[in-house]
Amino acid sequence: MTGSLHQDSSTNFPSLQQIGDMAAAAGRLTAGYFRRDIRIDEKSGDLGLVTEADIASEKFLKNEIAENFPSHRVLGEESGWSNGGSNDLPEEGDIVWILDPIDGTTNFSKGNIFHCISVACGKMVNGKFECERAAVYQPATQDLYTAGRLQGAFINGQPMRVNAGQEARRWSVATGFSSNKGDSLHGVIRCIEEFQNKILGVRINGAAALDLALTARGIFNGFFESRLSAWDMAAGDLLIREAGGITLNYQGRPFDVLSDKHIVAGPAHVVSFMLETLTRLKSELKNTSWP
Ligand code: IPD
Ligand code: CA
Ligand code: CA
Repeated sequence: MTGSLHQDSSTNFPSLQQIGDMAAAAGRLTAGYFRRDIRIDEKSGDLGLVTEADIASEKFLKNEIAENFPSHRVLGEESGWSNGGSNDLPEEGDIVWILDPIDGTTNFSKGNIFHCISVACGKMVNGKFECERAAVYQPATQDLYTAGRLQGAFINGQPMRVNAGQEARRWSVATGFSSNKGDSLHGVIRCIEEFQNKILGVRINGAAALDLALTARGIFNGFFESRLSAWDMAAGDLLIREAGGITLNYQGRPFDVLSDKHIVAGPAHVVSFMLETLTRLKSELKNTSWP
């Protein structure tokens, strides 16, 4: 696959085909470890699990980038910043990749098919990561989600749109617990209670990047979650926006992937509905550590 990658010299970003091929190839690699007896370690600091498949996937993606885009910076969940020769944050104009080698590692480690590979590539503009290309691949279904800034969002090459229809009582909205525990977990549970009482159903699937992709595809009407990291949201953020949705943080400001730890995503009216509830709960729970 390496030989088939050609750098797009006009933009220096990967084409949608390239980034999609990379995510799918990493997904096929992880599939070789799925439901097998593999090494699983606990990360220190209650940061969840890492398996040998996560490490192999990240190494594969980083090698592809180093070979085809040697000047680009990479932020990978398992190895942090690289390609810059230091752990410094990227500089203005740098082209940056943000990788989640397996999103949904707990699911993966249990043989649960709700997991994906998430790859984003963009540029540092005015101190922020501006995503240009995104790909999310679910190995179990072989579904490939791609998006290019100002190019649209696609599921297996076909255009996709967020699900803007239906009244609230017909909506299905996804969220997650992330690392919330104790009083911050109480905040998540209050959110679930509020939404579950008003909509068709809240879903907790355990892979934020895939939840965002499914929201961009219109399977979920919206997604919200706090205490996430850049690699959980970088690709999904562009998928949602290119599928006609919006992404905000819990303050209701435009989502910024390198600084925000929470995201509210979906069609604009679903996002306003979710934000209204989140804002009310933030005031109710202001003495807790949520969100
Ligand atoms: C996790 C998943 C999960 C979310 C966690 C993330 P990982 O990512 O996206 O849905 O609730 O907070 O850390 O660790 O499986 O890549
Ligand atoms: Ca993740
Ligand atoms: Ca991960």
